[in-house]
Amino acid sequence: MSWVEEAKRRAAEEAVKHVEDGQIIGLGSGSTAAYAIRLLGERLRRGELRNIYGIPTSLQAAYEAIEASIPLTTLEEHPTVDVAIDGADQLDARLNLIKGGGAALLREKIVASCSRLYIIVADERKLARRLGEGCPIPLEVHPMAVKPVLRRLEELGARASIRMARGKVGPVVTDNGNLIIDADFGPLEDPEKLDRRLKAMPGILETGLFLGYADLAYIGTKTGLRKLEASRGR
Ligand code: A5P
Repeated sequence: MSWVEEAKRRAAEEAVKHVEDGQIIGLGSGSTAAYAIRLLGERLRRGELRNIYGIPTSLQAAYEAIEASIPLTTLEEHPTVDVAIDGADQLDARLNLIKGGGAALLREKIVASCSRLYIIVADERKLARRLGEGCPIPLEVHPMAVKPVLRRLEELGARASIRMARGKVGPVVTDNGNLIIDADFGPLEDPEKLDRRLKAMPGILETGLFLGYADLAYIGTKTGLRKLEASRGR
């Protein structure tokens, strides 16, 4: 296993220790969150955990959970999530995040917003001094609004493009039937202000800026593990 995969697994191992019997668990998307889902499945199989139910943030997470024999539920049945474990594309020292590299940001943010404890798992390559450094912001956009949104993003100073699919012709279509625009603003001076401006654009259904959501993060490094805690409550 490469150091990156070891680091992802180490972070996931630490995160799943927070899960207790009877809890509702938000299941994140991406390769690091997938380690957490598999590890939860192993804990269930070994009888170390009982009666947990998962709420997946994507079809990928749902498939991983089914493979790991984790029973699934919905926010209709359980609108409060005890613990959510998710990956990130970039995070800063305040635990603000950029997410959506896997096009799952809308469901991920809904689940994050319902979670009493939101834990991020990542490897150290995801840490940045400033959000936006070498990392565009994914935006979930209604298909009808793609062209006007692209134009407005360019007026705001972004280099923006529709995310194209691999293994399918044409654009990436999200689990919700929308498209993804990746908007590169460079290092962000004021992520909160930018997020407000993006959210005010009709057609942008959600942004990949997750500001003030994460409570803690486990970061797998080349040689070990770092734990980062958010200094503010939410
Ligand atoms: C999914 O849309 C993203 O928010 C993921 O959580 C992110 O891409 C992390 O993926 P990896 O753990 O594979 O880097």
